[in-house]
Amino acid sequence: MKKLSVITGKPSEELARKLSQKIKANLVKSEIRTFPDGESKITISGIISKRKSVVVQSICPPVDTNLIHALSLISKAKETSDEVIAVIPYMGYARQDREFLPGEIITMKVLGKLFKGSGASKIIAVDIHSMLGFKHFSIKTENISAIADLAQYFKKLNLKNPLVVSPDQGGKERAKVFAKEFGSEYIALEKKRDRKTGKVQIKTKNVDEVANRDLILVDDMISTGGSIVKATQFLKKQKCKRVYVACTHALLINNAENKIKKAGVTRIVSTNTIPNKTSIVDISNTIAKAIK
Ligand code: R5P
Repeated sequence: MKKLSVITGKPSEELARKLSQKIKANLVKSEIRTFPDGESKITISGIISKRKSVVVQSICPPVDTNLIHALSLISKAKETSDEVIAVIPYMGYARQDREFLPGEIITMKVLGKLFKGSGASKIIAVDIHSMLGFKHFSIKTENISAIADLAQYFKKLNLKNPLVVSPDQGGKERAKVFAKEFGSEYIALEKKRDRKTGKVQIKTKNVDEVANRDLILVDDMISTGGSIVKATQFLKKQKCKRVYVACTHALLINNAENKIKKAGVTRIVSTNTIPNKTSIVDISNTIAKAIK
């Protein structure tokens, strides 16, 4: 029996397979049957190591379903393994890390208790929305980044006088890291989101440095695409050339991909934390390094 098992739920199966090969682990897959009332029946197949298991499961849509699957896989792993590490490539709920409006529940606090209670001794996430989310966890946590992997991909493209742009001030540090790895300058726009409606506006007035340049909009995630659409429309008005998007997690809810393309984006490039048409950058190597 191998010393290490990788146990995976459906959305992360391909990433887990690549990871298991890299860390020389047994791959344990799961089958899901959904009962008429919506409950999931999860059945795993494969041998779980007595020593250590790595559960790989993104909490992507359907978020609550994939969360209960992740917790169930951790709980099952803990019945056999001494140590269970949970790799949550996309950490859903990470945006609910503080009380923005009075009465809002900080769901990341709830997740902290659930992961601990299920038996995980450590959580590894990839580009978690903000580190504040992990402040609510009492078990070990680690955030690893796919930004260098994304930047490496863009180095292969023939971009004209490129500039890295963050759609908001919250992403400024991320844009800086990307720009350093990629080898360009960076700027960050000013974005405002209405906390009740979720609508976004770009508050920046003019940015002369984007004219005639190819741009890479860098963000942690695309959900509805609202942030990228507004930023692209603004940047196009400033007479930039092509706009590319680099993001770790592309959820692409409600036809977001079409809306983004319609706004004038040439290409969306994301990682396989969430498998879809745009997830062309593989981050299994980065995860393998964190586990070793
Ligand atoms: C917000 O601060 C995040 O970094 C993303 O920009 C945001 O969550 C993306 O959401 P949407 O695609 O719905 O604008």
